[in-house]
Amino acid sequence: MTAQRIDGNALSQQLRAQVAHDTAALKAQGLTPGLAVVLVGDNPASQVYVRNKVKACQDAGLHSVLEKYEASLSEADLLARVQALNNDPSIHGILVQLPLPAHIDAQKVIEAISPLKDVDGFHIASAGALMTGAKGFWPCTPYGCMKMLESIGYSLKGKHAVVIGRSNIVGKPMALMLLQQNATVTICHSGTQNLKALTLQADVIVAAVGKRNVLTADMVKPGAVVLDVGMNRNDEGKLCGDVDFEGVSQVASYITPVPGGVGPMTITMLLVNTLESAQRALSEK
Ligand code: GUN
Repeated sequence: MTAQRIDGNALSQQLRAQVAHDTAALKAQGLTPGLAVVLVGDNPASQVYVRNKVKACQDAGLHSVLEKYEASLSEADLLARVQALNNDPSIHGILVQLPLPAHIDAQKVIEAISPLKDVDGFHIASAGALMTGAKGFWPCTPYGCMKMLESIGYSLKGKHAVVIGRSNIVGKPMALMLLQQNATVTICHSGTQNLKALTLQADVIVAAVGKRNVLTADMVKPGAVVLDVGMNRNDEGKLCGDVDFEGVSQVASYITPVPGGVGPMTITMLLVNTLESAQRALSEK
């Protein structure tokens, strides 16, 4: 079997066009969705990420502001900025880029963001909303994975989904989203014994560990759907995921490539969440 690729760039383009369309409609009603991106320090990877987020907003017609601060910014000053953005009616989404400098308590900053503007979905209130099925924002990367499954018309009902990785940002929310769609979900992690025995039972596998070749062809049931959230470099310095793409492509029915798979979907879902936040603000006026 040669797996079909799920193209994250193409799906992103479609979804971003829809965001641009809906943003224009909202603007016609006098409201421009706005995202504030806050970057503290000069982490090179973070600088690229925030630039891409701001550009994606601009391309879709959203208002965006990038606030950049020196690494020496105090926690109190950052909390004050977050509070000001919470109170700013032109801002519907607030994203504080992680990681933050070591002297700042990242969780404290995340909890300072209004859950109504928590478009990253990292606030405890957002996590609780996802867990209970209440209204809230879903973390962008696993939300993007769900959109990818939806794009191939995949029904999760009764299927066995195996998530490899248990981070608060990807693994845990991913498992909850799959469960909400009535999959039977197994969460695997670094302490899991005999990972292969579990992945071989899976109809859907999400690899979100941050380590190359966590999933190889011998670990995949023929016809399984494989989503690769990993972002690593191979020996030649080329971007690669957690999955042995060439090998697993021979066994799976669908697979997401790296690059061009889940990656672009993360920013796309950030736009979707920001638009939705603005739509909620308008409907509650
Ligand atoms: N750092 C790496 N990915 C992310 C993300 O999705 N959101 C934030 N806030 N920081 C990140």
